[in-house]
Amino acid sequence: MSKFIPFAIWAMVMPWVTICNALTLDIPGIFGPIQQLGSQSGLDAAKFFKDKPGDFVHPGIWHTHEDLERMRKGVLEKKEPWAAAYKVFSDDMYSQANYSMQGPEAYLSRGLVSNYTSFTNDVRAAWQNSIMWYITKDHAHWNLTSNILNAWGSELVDIVGIDRSLLTGLEGDLFVNAAEIMRWEGNWTEAGAAWSGGSGFSNQLYWLFSRQSAVIGQANYGMVSIKSLLSFAVYLDDVDLYNYAINAYINDRCASVFSLYSPTTGQSSESGRDQSHATSGIGWTALAAKTAQSQGSDLFKLGDNLLLKGSEYTAKYNLNYTVEYDPSWYRCEAVLVDGPWEAISDEDRGITNQRPIWDMMYYEYVVKRGLHAPYTTEASKTEGFEGRVFTNVDDLPSWGSLVFAY
Ligand SMILES: *[C@@H]1O[C@H](CO)[C@@H](O)[C@H](O)[C@H]1NC(C)=O
Ligand SMILES: *[C@@H]1O[C@H](CO)[C@@H](O)[C@H](O)[C@H]1NC(C)=O
Ligand SMILES: *[C@@H]1O[C@H](CO)[C@@H](O)[C@H](O)[C@H]1NC(C)=O
Ligand SMILES: *[C@@H]1O[C@H](CO)[C@@H](O)[C@H](O)[C@H]1NC(C)=O
Ligand SMILES: *[C@@H]1O[C@H](CO)[C@@H](O)[C@H](O)[C@H]1NC(C)=O
Repeated sequence: MSKFIPFAIWAMVMPWVTICNALTLDIPGIFGPIQQLGSQSGLDAAKFFKDKPGDFVHPGIWHTHEDLERMRKGVLEKKEPWAAAYKVFSDDMYSQANYSMQGPEAYLSRGLVSNYTSFTNDVRAAWQNSIMWYITKDHAHWNLTSNILNAWGSELVDIVGIDRSLLTGLEGDLFVNAAEIMRWEGNWTEAGAAWSGGSGFSNQLYWLFSRQSAVIGQANYGMVSIKSLLSFAVYLDDVDLYNYAINAYINDRCASVFSLYSPTTGQSSESGRDQSHATSGIGWTALAAKTAQSQGSDLFKLGDNLLLKGSEYTAKYNLNYTVEYDPSWYRCEAVLVDGPWEAISDEDRGITNQRPIWDMMYYEYVVKRGLHAPYTTEASKTEGFEGRVFTNVDDLPSWGSLVFAY
């Protein structure tokens, strides 16, 4: 019903209380993005901008051609860590060419109503099979991924619900990564494309995914939009969308890397909320930087490696060490999530491969760049193997020692 009355604030009388609870059922999609004013970092974001569609590198989201080749060669030449990771990866149910597609569906919702697990699972299978195809060149994997992309691309009509930008930013991002590999390495062209009907993968990417992610929220939630907008923009060769997201990564005072991590300690603006949000936010920020890196821009090193500082702080606390906490460093609209917070939160404290961000951080900063990051390194060892995540399977790609290793 929210689809037809998007502006309504519904007052529902709950049977067990006598007061009315006003529930925000949907976001009016016509509100435009909130413009970022000025620069928090003093950095000129424009030096990372694209000028024209032909400036984009393809494939160029999380995996460039060189990245894919490194992975494939590592597996074929039985080099570590790729070989061991591939053994587990290739056995996973989402990597099988005979995975049986659960969708497509016409309407999905994430928010008060959440009914998108068929999409979550299919997207995961599409991405893992695209990697399987690249490594093995077995057409059955190509076929499975293209079938999933084409099916959802032709059938999905709308995504509703107040958290729809998480659905497009998490599932949608994994999906476009699969499509980018298939299109630029596998010569896949989408089926069912029809501009006037808004049908076909790229039409959905444009209308449903990128337009619905353009209102950037706060903190990790906002970073989900930023990192996925970068991915969507690369696929679509959308110069404005890409530059908009790059600018937000650097200048958005509620969601930029500079608003997320304290320049003095690396404390996350959500450290007082809980450790799972603090941890995922680091992964999402790194995925944004990864896409920019594929496009030739190094955002990992911004702010004197501020993201690594953030990783070190959160790794340290979650490894049970003590960290300094500054209650005045918190996110925009913390009040929405019971903040601001007087003390660091120990909710969800711990290092677990069910929040698989540590390998990506370790390989990027320690192995590739040779930087000293003792807590990130320890976290990567402590979590064990980053394989299948059992809940929220699309929040983060996982399989770091296969797909993000150097
Ligand atoms: C799918 O393929 C795997 C091997 O790739 C096999 O072990 C499994 O039994 C197959 N499942 C079905 C349902 O055919
Ligand atoms: C999901 O929920 C929305 C909103 O209630 C509904 O329109 C849609 O049909 C549902 N989709 C599925 C697959 O159940
Ligand atoms: C490719 O997918 C189609 C449609 O599902 C199926 O009919 C065909 O057998 C598949 N081919 C291979 C090689 O897996
Ligand atoms: C894709 O097309 C190009 C150009 O026709 C060709 O060289 C390449 O081998 C094709 N790749 C695949 C995986 O079919
Ligand atoms: C941190 O402490 C908790 C509770 O004592 C314990 O379960 C966990 O294993 C510890 N983690 C590490 C990395 O030592």
